[in-house]
Amino acid sequence: MTIPSPIAWTPGRTLRILDQTLLPGEERYVELDTVDAVAEAIRTLRVRGAPLIGIAAAMGVTLALRHGPATLDAVCAASATLGATRPTAVNLRWALGRMERRAAAALAAGEDLADALRDEADAIWEEDRAMCARIGATGAALIGGDAVVLTHCNAGALATGGIGTALAPVYTLHQAGRRVAVVADETRPLLQGSRLTAWELARAGVPVTVIADGMAASRLRRGDVSCVLVGADRIAANGDVANKIGTYPLALAAREHGVPFYVAPPSSTVDPSTPDGSAIPIEERAGDEIAGPAGRRTAPLGVQVWNPAFDVTPAALVTAIITDRGVFAPRDVAGAV
Ligand code: MRU
Repeated sequence: MTIPSPIAWTPGRTLRILDQTLLPGEERYVELDTVDAVAEAIRTLRVRGAPLIGIAAAMGVTLALRHGPATLDAVCAASATLGATRPTAVNLRWALGRMERRAAAALAAGEDLADALRDEADAIWEEDRAMCARIGATGAALIGGDAVVLTHCNAGALATGGIGTALAPVYTLHQAGRRVAVVADETRPLLQGSRLTAWELARAGVPVTVIADGMAASRLRRGDVSCVLVGADRIAANGDVANKIGTYPLALAAREHGVPFYVAPPSSTVDPSTPDGSAIPIEERAGDEIAGPAGRRTAPLGVQVWNPAFDVTPAALVTAIITDRGVFAPRDVAGAV
């Protein structure tokens, strides 16, 4: 892969992240050495994507011990700070829950807490890398070659610890020498599709065409799109899917035009404790992301702006869910992972 890892340990056990807010113009790496710095990076989307924010938070917890006592209280305080950054992606809470449980077990067993936490964060990262690879193999077999895949937001290497979720089958097919091309929704308002998906696909040599979100239905009507393939931030017990705002209208358009609509999450994104989509907390972000991006006003001062970062696609619109454990009907996925 020619995609740089969006996260790494430094030799001094701090974190090094690729600042995704600066892409595609600038490839800048930033060192984070406090829990608060990691929380800020997650909140501002320097680090983003459901699996990657789980990994970053897990690694971030270890930083608590650099600046304070090696206690369960310190770990839980760090976990609370990191867990409060973004509400929708369940991977964040899932990863932090693992770190808290590992800390408690390590202390009870008299193990070195710093070593135990670092090992657990590495395990979360490594498991995600492996899950991405399995999604890639499973999705590639389902989609086949000579495919044109329409995607939304960024569920690629920049969003995970591996080759991505929705983009994993694309990379797997490409590496196998099969013909595959991607149509990438721009993804208003923060443009993860044009800034990030197009960037990483272009670097990997995968043909990519960027469209504005409002063009997706017209593109689907043209008849040359094999399938829609997106990631997820949380999948409820009934198979409803929370993903980047704009996913739901894409699913409606895909249904209208008879195009399969696939969702590709790792099992860490499936949340059996959330009964359905109405119970998924949807993050609302600052109105300026729409009305004043990059300091340039695109709506008059004083008008109201509504800026939910995610939407919920009802399970009925989802053709199948491609996970690291196989392909499932939406209603079956929570019982299977
Ligand atoms: O706000 P973001 O950029 O973190 O949103 C990311 C998405 O919605 C992705 O589609 C999702 O997290 C899946 S990433 C494998």
